[in-house]
Amino acid sequence: MCGIVGYIGNKKASPILINGLLKLEYRGYDSAGISTIEKTGLSTMKDKGRVKNLYNLPEIDNLEGTIGIAHTRWATHGKPSMENAHPHMDNSKTFSVVHNGIIENFNELRKLLSDSGYTFYSQTDTEIIPNLIDYYYKKENNNDLKFLRAVKNACNSLKGSFALEIICKDYPDNMIVVRKDSPLVIGKGNGENYISSDIPAMLSYTKDFYLLNDLEYVVLSRDNAKFYNNDLKTIEKETKSIDWDANSSEKGDFEDYMLKEIYEQPKAIRETIGSRINKNSKCEFEELNFTKEYLQGLNKIYFVACGTAMHVGLAGKDMIEKLCKIPTEVDIASEFRYRDPLIDNKTLCIFISQSGETADTLAALKLSKQCGAKTLAITNVIGSSITREADYSIYTHAGPEIAVASTKAYTSQVVLVAMLTIYFAETLELSTQKIATLKEEILLLPKKIEKALKTSSEIKTFAKRIYQEKDIFFLGRGIDETVAKEASLKLKEISYIHSDSYPAGELKHGPIALIENDVTVISIMTDPKLVKKTISNIQEVISRGAKTLIITNQDVDTDMFDMVICIPETSTFISPILSIIPLQLLAYFTSKEKGLDVDKPRNLAKSVTVE
Ligand code: M6R
Repeated sequence: MCGIVGYIGNKKASPILINGLLKLEYRGYDSAGISTIEKTGLSTMKDKGRVKNLYNLPEIDNLEGTIGIAHTRWATHGKPSMENAHPHMDNSKTFSVVHNGIIENFNELRKLLSDSGYTFYSQTDTEIIPNLIDYYYKKENNNDLKFLRAVKNACNSLKGSFALEIICKDYPDNMIVVRKDSPLVIGKGNGENYISSDIPAMLSYTKDFYLLNDLEYVVLSRDNAKFYNNDLKTIEKETKSIDWDANSSEKGDFEDYMLKEIYEQPKAIRETIGSRINKNSKCEFEELNFTKEYLQGLNKIYFVACGTAMHVGLAGKDMIEKLCKIPTEVDIASEFRYRDPLIDNKTLCIFISQSGETADTLAALKLSKQCGAKTLAITNVIGSSITREADYSIYTHAGPEIAVASTKAYTSQVVLVAMLTIYFAETLELSTQKIATLKEEILLLPKKIEKALKTSSEIKTFAKRIYQEKDIFFLGRGIDETVAKEASLKLKEISYIHSDSYPAGELKHGPIALIENDVTVISIMTDPKLVKKTISNIQEVISRGAKTLIITNQDVDTDMFDMVICIPETSTFISPILSIIPLQLLAYFTSKEKGLDVDKPRNLAKSVTVE
């Protein structure tokens, strides 16, 4: 939520900042703003709405400064408006600040500052920060590290989460950045430094990044980055080289990032499989050192995640319980963290997160560690907060995912969880024919995804039939029900059509009351053991006038349904990777038919870094 960028170097800062904001816009698009240090002092410009509004301000070209900060907002405190847009300045206009996160004690700090004579012009929690820095700055007698001391004192008064970039008119050659529970990386250039909420936004400038821990402060100059801990002792940091290709965060020939990312799935799966699966040797995870005794001693495995990543956990439960016979639970991170979950040192908690920055998932991970559980992170972003907290981290290799609707991250996570399950099973010496077959099927996935993508034109036709509907229902049994959930989320988040998913067998216990003439029901049928049962449920909705779309890899009577989409057959464990493809395309084409912004659906942000 909210994207922040910064630049300090010898080039004009504003084009670099605007370019960075455009890349980070998926994190929020309620307003955008920029502050640079000009010869005349601090200069700030902002506007409501998309980054292009800021970019189109005629005065933006007048900014010559070579140091600056910028922000694209996802509104939390205060409506999207000009006065609530970042950067925010203190009353004396000495400091300019951009912030991603939430300050939980902002009301009491606001009162404290108001009592000391400060005035507030916005409804944001952020506006207290520059004023608090100013408050401490004015109290500071020691000129040594005066700016840094003021920032540190202010940060130590804040409760909540923050990634901050601060510039000060008295320090035209420095910028200070700090983070706590919100993402921020520093890209090292040649005589210049870049700051960003995430790595892809800066890939066209550098591939070398410093990763920050909570409450580490960085004083940036053009050719240096000096790191301090919360006691203001200097600390050493090495850069980490990121091997993502700069083009991987561009749209290329595709109309939208989402479509590009859907079509990137064969590659994402191939790269996530890497060399982990070999027919004649055990599944390799060099990052993990679980023993047979440890796995045998587990009382439970927990998958904890949000949104699409949580749906991967549901597929993971199915695989681990069926193949390894270890009891497995799945929970939504925002619920888990307040549930007093029953976990201890015999529990393995697995956290799935594309971004590795989701606030609730991170908090759930910290809680699990406190309870003594071992923690394993599955993310797509090396060095992300979740990976830095977890005992173990394994990665999908999907490349940057920019569209708000997650597609290639989902399928890559499912394949990684399938391989993790095989690793557990082999460590437990449960080597069976099922595992050998699963390995073979995993290796065939990229080709089969290519086939599943060929359903695109049929799906486009179906999207034209349904795009004006109000409600759509998704049904499935077993593993197909987990896909129904994911398909329903995908459709509603980008097409704004209300949709719901149900286990097909639950229909008669309530939801069937919603079925009337011409309502669309979409069903996934890939589990041979359950297909007949699901077909019976679909017949019940057809009898009540529903029109039906079936996604299947089984032999079904096509005349019975309005449309049947055939996908390649595979092991039931990994069938979500194929059955979700036409449903991702359906969400995409439905949104396009409605003329919506597929990549940036209303009210949403790609990375949910506040709770
Ligand atoms: O970065 P994460 O995987 O932790 O994000 C979790 C969810 O916010 C994310 O999957 C969300 O549900 C997507 N918009 C779904 O398409």
